[in-house]
This record gives sequence, C-alpha cells and structure tokens, in this order.
Amino acid sequence: MRNRRGSWVVPIFGVIIVVAGSGGCSESKGTGQPLSTPDAATDGSSGAAGTSEDGGMPLEPRTQAALEAGRKTFRFETFGDQAFWGDQLKLHQAIEGQAHGGVGPGLSPTMALTVGLKVDAEAIPAGVAANIKAGQVNLDDPATTLSLLRVNAVVGVTGFFNDDGTLASVGIQCALCHSTVDDSFAPGIGKRLDGWANRDLNVGAIIGLAPDLSPFTNLLQVDEATVRAVLASWGPGKFDAELAVDGKGMRPDGKPAATLIPPAFGLAGVNLHTWTGWGSIPYWNAFVAVLEMMGKGTFFDPRLDDAAKFPVAARAKRGHVRNDPDLVTPKLADLHLYQLSLNAPAAPAGSFDAEAAARGGTLFAGKAQCGRCHVPPLYTEPGWNLHAPEEIGIDDFQAKRSPDEKYRTAPLRGLHTHVKGGFYHDGRFATLRDVVDHYDQLFELGLTDADKDDLVEYLKSL
Ligand code: HEC
Ligand code: HEC
Repeated sequence: MRNRRGSWVVPIFGVIIVVAGSGGCSESKGTGQPLSTPDAATDGSSGAAGTSEDGGMPLEPRTQAALEAGRKTFRFETFGDQAFWGDQLKLHQAIEGQAHGGVGPGLSPTMALTVGLKVDAEAIPAGVAANIKAGQVNLDDPATTLSLLRVNAVVGVTGFFNDDGTLASVGIQCALCHSTVDDSFAPGIGKRLDGWANRDLNVGAIIGLAPDLSPFTNLLQVDEATVRAVLASWGPGKFDAELAVDGKGMRPDGKPAATLIPPAFGLAGVNLHTWTGWGSIPYWNAFVAVLEMMGKGTFFDPRLDDAAKFPVAARAKRGHVRNDPDLVTPKLADLHLYQLSLNAPAAPAGSFDAEAAARGGTLFAGKAQCGRCHVPPLYTEPGWNLHAPEEIGIDDFQAKRSPDEKYRTAPLRGLHTHVKGGFYHDGRFATLRDVVDHYDQLFELGLTDADKDDLVEYLKSL
C-alpha cells in the first residue's frame, strides 16, 4: 500500500495533476498557514488561554515546532487506526463503490457532504477548484471522493491507496469530529476551523456504511441489527464514547444514549474534561485515540475493570491496552499543547446586542447565580468542576456512565459555534432561552422576560 509518499500523477476530476508528497502520512497540502503568533492567537478577544500583555514575545522555537507537530496530529494522524476502519470494517470498500473495486454504490461527494463530512478547500488544487466552481466536476461520482481523498482534502479522513490507484484502507483523525470548515468555497467546503465541533457530522450513519460490523457485534456481544439500530439513533453532531466501554446503546426511556460532540477549543485552564469529567485532556486524548478511534497505542485505566459499570471494558480488558509499536503515546504531549493553544473564537460582530449582553453579564454574576459554577473567564470552576445531576436538575443516566457519576460544568466560551444540536450533553435544550428557563425554574430565580433576554445575549457574546 502506498500513502502519499513520493510523487505521482493522478487523474483528478478529469484533469491530470501532479501530487508531490514529501513526507509520511501526516504530510499534506493544507497544513496551511503558520500557527498564530501569541499576539494573533489571543487578539484580546476571547482567549481564556492568555493575554498579549507580554508584548507578543516570540515562542521558543521548540514550542513552535511542538505546536505545529500537535496540529499535524490533530488534523492528520490516524495512529494506525486504518487497521480498524479499513482492514476490519472495510469502510474503504463502501467509499469506493463497486465500480472502483469496492462494494455498493460508493460514497459520492454529495452524499459525503450530506452525512456532514467537510472538505478542506485549501487542499484542493487551484485548477480543480475552478472546475468545481464552473460545475464541471461530477459531485455525484464516488471517483471524485477518491480524488479528494488522494489530495487529503476530506477533513478527518485519510485514504491509503494501492499502487493501482484503488483504495487500500481508510483511517480517521481527531479533526473528523472536532473540526469543521468555514463554508467559504461552498456549503461544507472551506477553510479548516480546528476545535469547532462538527455538528453536521452523522458518525452513526458513516459507521453504518461499513460492509462488516462484526468488530462491533463481537466487542458488544449483540447482533448486527442492534448495532445498526444504535448507530441510526445518534443523528447529526452526536457520538457515544461510552458505548464501547459500557455497551449501553439506548437510554432506559428509549431515547438515544449518544452525546453531542463538544468543541475542542477554549479548554486551557479547565481541569476535568468531557461532559462527565472523565479526566484531563491528555487522559481523554489517550482514551479516544486507543478505545474509540482504535489507534495502536497504550491505555491504562483500572477504573474500567468495574464489571458492573463497564461490562464491555472489563470483559475486553480495555483499561489495559498495549500495542507494540505504540503509535499514540509519543504524540500526546504535542497534541495536548496544540489543543491548549486553540482559543474559543470571539462572537462575530453584530451577532448579539452589546448593551443587553452587558446587562446580562451583571445578571450572570449576580441574581441569576450562573457565576457560582461558570466562573469567568474560564466559565467552569477552577478546581474540581463536577456536579451531581440533581444540582443542575437533570436525570443521572449519562453521569452514571462515568467514573465520578457527575456532570462537568461546561465551559461556555464560543457557544455561538455550536448552537446546532442544542445544549447540555445530549442537546435536551434546543435553545439558550430554554437553558435559561430551566435554571430560572430550578433555582427559583424569578427572572423577568427582559432578564432572560439579556442573559441570552450575554451567552451569545461569549
Ligand atoms: C467520532 C467523533 C470523535 C472523534 C474522532 C474524536 N472525538 Fe473528542 N469527543 C467526541 C465526543 C462525542 C466527546 C464527548 C464525550 C463524552 O463526554 O462522553 C468528545 C470529547 C472530547 C474532549 C473533551 C472536551 C471538553 O469539553 O472537555 C476532548 C479534549 C476531545 N474530545 C479531544 C479529541 C481528540 C484529541 C481526538 C483525537 C485523538 C478526538 N477527540 C477524537 C467525539 C470525537
Ligand atoms: C450548580 C452549577 C451550575 C450553575 C449554578 C449553572 N450551571 Fe450551567 N452548567 C452546569 C453544568 C454541570 C453543565 C453541563 C450540563 C450537561 O452536561 O448536561 C452546564 C451547562 C450549561 C450550558 C450548556 C453548555 C453547552 O455546551 O451545551 C449553558 C448554556 C449554561 N450551563 C448556562 C448557565 C447559565 C446561564 C446559568 C445561570 C442561569 C448557569 N448555567 C448556572 C452547571 C451550572
């Protein structure tokens, strides 16, 4: 199998172009712009991560290199997980389609965009981009998807190609779920926005394309129909990271057990991560890379030996995973650094009423009691940022699936980037107004309609 090493001529969209690949799997067009300088990165707007008070002191070259390596990992590193997504699930065959050596109809770009996959416009060669604009590229042909994979333009998905041009395997990256694009080229096609939750992405539908789901039926010890029903229940913007440790496909009330994909920006300074506070950022990165993406790495967590709570993990010893070579652990430090550098984006100018937001800020800190838990500027508690379900007035289903059985105070910066899918871990509140109404009732705050409007404007401004 060959993976963008060397350079070769590929027919793409009927145009012959030369793709020059210089490095390994993570080398790509579209690594793009240099990382921001400290000044630009914090631009005084929203960074919980720092200020420009140091006058934009240059970073040590080693730090700069580590940040860039971390970005590469976030965007392009599969950690060897193609052994799972391709070799085992055979997802690459479903992408190719029968006409190109795979199975079924194949995944056309139109279908790929429909299931929420995003295309990195900067990775598309200029001539091809012009042809797309001119409507001369067939977006209903899976061959076009293969061409996009060849230039590494499908965000979060890497294709590995045989010498004869057929797809040998496919792997996934962090960017699949935690990046989107700015739609500057066309809907679903644009510049990468790292750290933004992809709330269009239908992970369940994508996995459901796989010709072979036996890795899931074996792990979960259920039949294929059950796996398919669970995958179909997730919908856009959601994934169930706990399924692979506790096997709970649905909530007891029959609703989907999946949670929303959270942003991966604005996390510097925040102690515990995930909706239920499983651990630190590097803890969770190792968990995801090894237990969810099925990368080849090391993962240790004896809490998963609790067979009553985590029957799947205890049975399969998922808290004691070793792989040789370990393709994950050497990447964790730089990946962590890169994540810490991702500031929450400022609310776009004009997207909220500044005067109302200012009044809302006063309410947030005072009468509405929000600042009790969402402590600015982190908007979560410095310290042990977890709460019992009854403290926030919701059921304990998701909390109980985690080691501490609590919910983590969600950091609120950049809420405007993930309105789609709703709020709270499962999107139970469709709008920010619904969230505010919930707290008003729960804490008997006695907020007026005007107060609520102001609070919502404040939340939109964060
Ligand atoms: C298939 C989609 C998917 C992929 C791929 C994925 N994540 Fe996530 N990520 C999620 C979901 C869903 C959650 C919420 C999990 C929970 O609370 O149970 C999450 C949570 C997180 C969090 C916690 C955010 C917070 O608010 O504390 C971090 C950090 C994170 N992911 C980083 C990564 C990194 C790094 C990678 C690659 C190694 C990655 N994720 C790959 C879906 C994904
Ligand atoms: C007792 C602590 C506590 C208080 C007080 C509190 N929150 Fe929260 N907040 C949380 C927790 C915990 C979550 C995460 C809920 C979940 O994961 O389902 C959360 C989630 C949220 C979210 C959803 C974030 C997302 O990404 O979906 C918003 C918005 C929010 N709170 C706003 C507020 C506002 C406004 C107030 C004041 C009226 C407030 N909170 C008061 C603890 C608190």
